[in-house]
Order: sequence, then C-alpha cells, then structure tokens
Amino acid sequence: METIKVKASRPYSVTVGSEQLKTIGERARSLFPKAVRVMLVSDDTVFPLYGETVSRSLIAEGFETEPFVFPHGEKSKNSKTYLDLISAIARAGLSRSDFCVALGGGVVGDLTGFAAATYMRGIGFIQVPTTLLAMVDASVGGKTAVDLPEGKNLLGAFWQPSEVICDIDTLKTLPDPVYAAGCAEIVKYGCMMDKELFETLEQQDLKSVEEKVISRSVSDKRDIVEQDERETGSTRILLNFGHTVGHAVEKVSNYQISHGSAVSIGMCVMVRAQSECGMIDKRTVKRIESLLASFALPTETGFSARDLSDAILSDKKKTGKTVNFVALREIGEAYVMPIPIGEIESFIEKGLKTCKSN
Ligand code: NAD
Ligand code: GLY
Repeated sequence: METIKVKASRPYSVTVGSEQLKTIGERARSLFPKAVRVMLVSDDTVFPLYGETVSRSLIAEGFETEPFVFPHGEKSKNSKTYLDLISAIARAGLSRSDFCVALGGGVVGDLTGFAAATYMRGIGFIQVPTTLLAMVDASVGGKTAVDLPEGKNLLGAFWQPSEVICDIDTLKTLPDPVYAAGCAEIVKYGCMMDKELFETLEQQDLKSVEEKVISRSVSDKRDIVEQDERETGSTRILLNFGHTVGHAVEKVSNYQISHGSAVSIGMCVMVRAQSECGMIDKRTVKRIESLLASFALPTETGFSARDLSDAILSDKKKTGKTVNFVALREIGEAYVMPIPIGEIESFIEKGLKTCKSN
C-alpha cells in the first residue's frame, strides 16, 4: 500500500492498495468525528458490485448511510442528476458536519464532488475511485463539474476531497476498454512530465506494476496541483496535453468515443502535427503511437480537421485570438503553444496524416 500526501488548500491523502474498501468507515470516522449521516453516491454498475462492502463499513462506524444510485455513463453527469442528488442529500438531513462518499468512476466523482462543493456552501467528501482513469486523474486535484447541453464540465467548482481511497482490487471487474481509457492518462503523464514512467510502460507489463504506476501517476498529478491548484498559472494547463483535440473528438463523436480514447487520439494528432512542422522527431511520435496502441487505444480518427477545429473553437478554453495547445519538446517535457485561431484547422490537418517513418 502506498500513501501520497497532497498539500492543497485542503490537505489530504491518496491511498493506493488492495482491500481498501473495508477500511472506509474507520477512516471516515477519523476524518469526520462529529458526522452522523453519509450520502453514498454511486452508479448502477458499481453499486451492485461494491456498494454493500462500503455501506457495511460505514454503518459499522455508526454512520446513518443513505445510498444515491444513478444510471452509469457520461449522460448522467448533468444538472438534473446533480439537483436530484442535492435534493436527496437535503431529504436525508445531512448537516455541514456530514459528508458524501463518491464510489465509482470519474462521472460519480465529478458529480458527487460538485454536490459536496455546493450543498450548504460546501461539505466534505471522500473519493473512492473504481476506474483506472479516476484513480490516476479524476479523483485527485479537486476539479468537480457536471455537463450542460452547451458543453462538457461547464458547471463546476474547485473542491478538494477530504481523502482519496483507491482500492486496486476494484479494477479486476473493469471492462478492457474502460481500463485502457485510464492507460491513456498514464501515458499522458509520461509524455508531459515523467520520462521514467513512460519507459516503465514501454518495458513492463502494466498489470505487474499496477500499484506502483498508479501511485507514480498520482504523485505526478499531485506535483502539478500543488504548484497551480486552480489552473491560474502556467503549470496545471500542461495536464491538458492531448485534451484540446481530445475534447473535440469526444464532442464530434457525440460522446460515443470515451474520454481516454479521445485523449489518446488527441495526443497522437498533436505530436504528428508537431512532427510535420519539424518541431519533434518522428521516432518520438512512433514511440508514443506504439505505446498507446499496445494498450489497444486508438491513435487516429476519421473526423475532419474542419469539424475538430470548429469543436475546439466552441469550447470554453479559448482566450482571445489564440487557443492554448499543449505541445511536447520531447518525451517528459511539455509546454504551452498558443495557436492563432485561423491556423488551427491546418495544424490539425497535419496531425491527421499518418506519420511516415524515416
Ligand atoms: P465513468 O465514471 O463513466 O466509468 C466508466 C464505466 O465504468 C461506467 O459505465 C461505470 O459504471 C463503469 N465502472 C466503474 N468502475 C467499475 C468497476 N470497478 N467495475 C466495473 N465497471 C466499472 O468514466 P471514467 O472514465 O471513470 O471517468 C470519465 C469522467 O471523468 C468524465 O466525465 C471526465 O470528464 C471526468 N474526468 C474528470 C477529471 C477531473 O479532474 N475531475 C479528470 C479526468 C476525467
Ligand atoms: N484532468 C486535468 C486536471 O485535473 O487539471
């Protein structure tokens, strides 16, 4: 078991290991000594698998535990589910000293975190991520949100969890494509800040070093969040490597392509475009494409540069006449590359071409 301390506006620990679910009640009791009630939030896939273990652990510590279970998937991460959850919390009578538990993937974590951030102007919550993506990314760093019809994550808040508990045993029930989506975010850390992690992924079977790799990814994210918690500086934005094009791919696919797969495509489009512009060598592009492909992640898309650039321009992250893309200098080093709005389509067009070996 490994524990990573995050020194954010609310300091907390992230624990990564086996057989963690049974310990949640005990740990919640030390975090929330005065709490009486807890809202256990989950989706309809995860709750039947792990809800009872977590409920029992909370009840054993004397918490009145109320479940809130909603249909799985990104489509539920919306303002209706959010308001239903807030109403359920209010009906259950949670006070400011009570708390929520988010048991599930990034959808459950983002939604529960936003409800916790806003109910009574903010109550505590514990993240219990059950997907690889949520363990290495979504549960750490305090970004919480729901989607609006106008765009993804448009209604949200920064609200750090009180603790993050990653039970790697839960990964055994994950469908392969959902597991692979998490691999995309781990490759992202390797590309943008951690060459050693990238090389570990190239050389070793992930399952044999899973706990170590999850902990390392969490430490990488922790380092960024501690420097730039609210993304007001120039550091946290680097976590968006692959995400500008990735979000566009998600949007153009009408969210049929998962976040992780879209980020995989986004990273490849980015480095291929850089390579076409002579900014990065083709061997680096090949290494990134091969590593992602080894996790059965997509590296290409059939969507047009026009559709992708239109989607980027309708996104919330553009500032004035340029859009900030995150580019690579080499594996392990990222930087912000503003691209003028008028040049985005042709830049992406370059990235859609298959990289030819030397
Ligand atoms: P998800 O929460 O939709 O989970 C994917 C699927 O796996 C769901 O169907 C879920 O029911 C199922 N599942 C979860 N755990 C399982 C388990 N142990 N066994 C079997 N099935 C399981 O998706 P995700 O990929 O975890 O998260 C994606 C979401 O996270 C997106 O909404 C994205 O915007 C958000 N996100 C947030 C941040 C952040 O910093 N807050 C970062 C990255 C992504
Ligand atoms: N997933 C990007 C961030 O947390 O900033």
